[in-house]
Amino acid sequence: MCANANPDTHNQDYNPSHSSSFHSQKDSPYSALQQYTDNYEYPYCQDINKYDKQLKIGQGTFGEVFYAKCRRTHRAVALKKVKMEYEKEGFPITALREIRILQLLRHENVVRLYEICRSKSTLYNRERGSIYMVFEFCEHDLAGLLSNPEVKFPLEEIKDIIRQLFRAISYLHSNNVLHRDMKASNIFITREGKLKLGDFGLARAIATSKMQPAKYTNRVVTLWYRAPELLLGDRNYSFPIDLWGVGCIMAEMWIRSPILQGTIETHQLTLISCLCGSINTRVWPDVEKLELFSKIVLKDETRKVVERLTPKVGNRYAVDLIDKLLVLDPSKRITSNAALEHEFFTSEPLPISAERTLRHLPDNCFEMTAPQRPRLGVSHAPKPRETSQMGVSAGMGDRLY
Ligand SMILES: Nc1ncnc2c1ncn2[C@@H]1O[C@H](COP(=O)(O)OP(=O)(O)OP(=O)(O)O)[C@@H](O)[C@H]1O
Ligand SMILES: [Mg+2]
Repeated sequence: MCANANPDTHNQDYNPSHSSSFHSQKDSPYSALQQYTDNYEYPYCQDINKYDKQLKIGQGTFGEVFYAKCRRTHRAVALKKVKMEYEKEGFPITALREIRILQLLRHENVVRLYEICRSKSTLYNRERGSIYMVFEFCEHDLAGLLSNPEVKFPLEEIKDIIRQLFRAISYLHSNNVLHRDMKASNIFITREGKLKLGDFGLARAIATSKMQPAKYTNRVVTLWYRAPELLLGDRNYSFPIDLWGVGCIMAEMWIRSPILQGTIETHQLTLISCLCGSINTRVWPDVEKLELFSKIVLKDETRKVVERLTPKVGNRYAVDLIDKLLVLDPSKRITSNAALEHEFFTSEPLPISAERTLRHLPDNCFEMTAPQRPRLGVSHAPKPRETSQMGVSAGMGDRLY
């Protein structure tokens, strides 16, 4: 990652057996190498001390996130520390993927990765240096904002937020990148109302040639936002999995909490069929090819998306777009480009930046610092909330937002 440094121009020649700093007979070659790398001045990977860490704002599956300021320029940044504690095989592949993908992407609605920094190993960090991803700082995340009752987005601002989300997804998909972890806490919003899609820890580039079916892992996406094809074992999935997540998030803009809070995969499927209707070959002809379809038994249900969401959402275009996103058959689910053409965005009131609402907020609403909302930390094994708004005793299938 930061190996493009040239040792000849920046460091003394490395020779453990000759160097005075490696003189101890009992030193293993490993510790000699460790000392060498610790003292190495990586020209493209600066010391994290150039930033002043001020507050922990996020604790995710793959690392801690801090608010910090550059000591020289005073620019605000978010530092995501790569979690290495449990890594036996070197630098985590998830972080490598996240860095690689973010380095290739550049869009106003995708969080910008400025650089990678490192901390030296010291006694304080148990002699293990860390790697940090340095991101542009966004004052809020959507999960934090929706959990704050003071924040009330009018329809025109919701339109602008959702339109920016579709623009981000459309950009990713046109570059053959799947996000694979759509959820409100991965959507960052600046004080000026600019949306930045973040957390590319599960993202991957996908093959576009249909010559051979792909075999991606289906243990992706936080359970509550996981598309039915993933839950049924699909490994040849594609862009529609992200659009299912957008459908859940869009509904959440009005419901204010995740709409399908399953506890385990089968429960999640039950909730999905309660809202979106029975999963069968009539509505989804290819479903019988999915590994788990024949293994699960779901009750017959009628589709109730419009009926259930209309009283909460109000706007018929919004309900229609959610209805087109929460389509069971991925091949019939609306694409991001088609969604951007939807009347929801061209009907009155027209989209307006959420800056007006966000400007007046006293505090930042991070997932970490915001009260009340359940944290959805684990991407493939969510911690469901202990009590639901509808009551924890509600039977399987009863708990729809
Ligand atoms: N650029 C940023 N600006 C402001 N806050 C951020 C930024 N990046 C991350 N955060 C905060 O840190 C939290 C965790 O970050 P992120 O989602 O990237 O990490 P993660 O380890 O993959 O988390 P998770 O597994 O919970 O999704 C975010 O939900 C957000 O609150
Ligand atoms: Mg996250």
